[in-house]
Amino acid sequence: MKRIGVLTSGGDSPGMNAAIRAVVRKAIYHNLEIYGIYYGYAGLINGDIKKLEIGSVGDIIHRGGTMLYTARCEEFKTLEGQKKGIEQLEKFGIEALVVIGGDGSFRGAEKLTEHGFPTIGVPGTIDNDISGTDYTIGFDTALNTVINAIDKIRDTATSHERTYVIEVMGRDAGDIALWSGLADGAESILIPEENYSMNDVVQRLMKGHERGKKHSIIVVAEGAGSGVEIAKEIKKRTNLETRVTVLGHIQRGGSPTASDRVLASRLGAYAVEILLDGKAGKMVGIEKNVLVSHDIDDALSRKHQIDQTMFKLSKELSI
Ligand code: F6P
Repeated sequence: MKRIGVLTSGGDSPGMNAAIRAVVRKAIYHNLEIYGIYYGYAGLINGDIKKLEIGSVGDIIHRGGTMLYTARCEEFKTLEGQKKGIEQLEKFGIEALVVIGGDGSFRGAEKLTEHGFPTIGVPGTIDNDISGTDYTIGFDTALNTVINAIDKIRDTATSHERTYVIEVMGRDAGDIALWSGLADGAESILIPEENYSMNDVVQRLMKGHERGKKHSIIVVAEGAGSGVEIAKEIKKRTNLETRVTVLGHIQRGGSPTASDRVLASRLGAYAVEILLDGKAGKMVGIEKNVLVSHDIDDALSRKHQIDQTMFKLSKELSI
């Protein structure tokens, strides 16, 4: 193998740049040529591809976003789009590809492998919702962004004796909500993986209120319901002064934490290593601090589970 490619796809996540750097430098270390594909699968279809050198990835390890840009690409979900992508890879003499992204990006990688093009997936998403890895690149940074925000909201919540509903990202995944809620002592954590009742949310609030607690924090993952609607319902049922903050895309930006930079460096380099070992159709991950690889189709077929012990603990500690 002489020439490989790398792209980032789907929602960006802090640490993607560190992963690109690791792929590029590890490839060059092993005397491979490395090509960057810009704008994810959309750029692949359009042939937006350029050779990368050691210096191309200088000064990016600490930057959020992705220097290769990213996109969500509907066309690549079609056979025609996939064939166009493979034609471009062949035109540039690229023999294998590293895809950095979330589950949607992994589906594209799986399709490429099915069509005979060796592809490896690196899990990069703030959602931490990929099976086959304990952590995804960007989760730790997003979590710290959320915690910083909640700490600030807590100050004003205390001053005004208010209840705050904080909506965090996670359309189908509750890890950001669960971890930030536990780290910030939220009264209730509402996540898409678990049913909840407004009665329970209200009861917890009122119990705290009756023992003299003047402010409360409720963290809700966007996939579990609208923060605005939940806040309205709380106000209606309790008459407590309630405010809502939707944190939105600030969760996706910012300089990656040390953990994310190290994780991205390890996973990016490992992706190149297993390509050189002749593997394809795999995703790389980290389990109990050991680098692992799994078949992408296998990882995609297993839904990521939240840690039930953490969810239970969050309830036990917010009595
Ligand atoms: O998958 C990452 C993520 O940030 C989710 O948490 C969120 O639901 C989604 O992307 C938002 O996507 P977009 O930026 O395309 O609106």
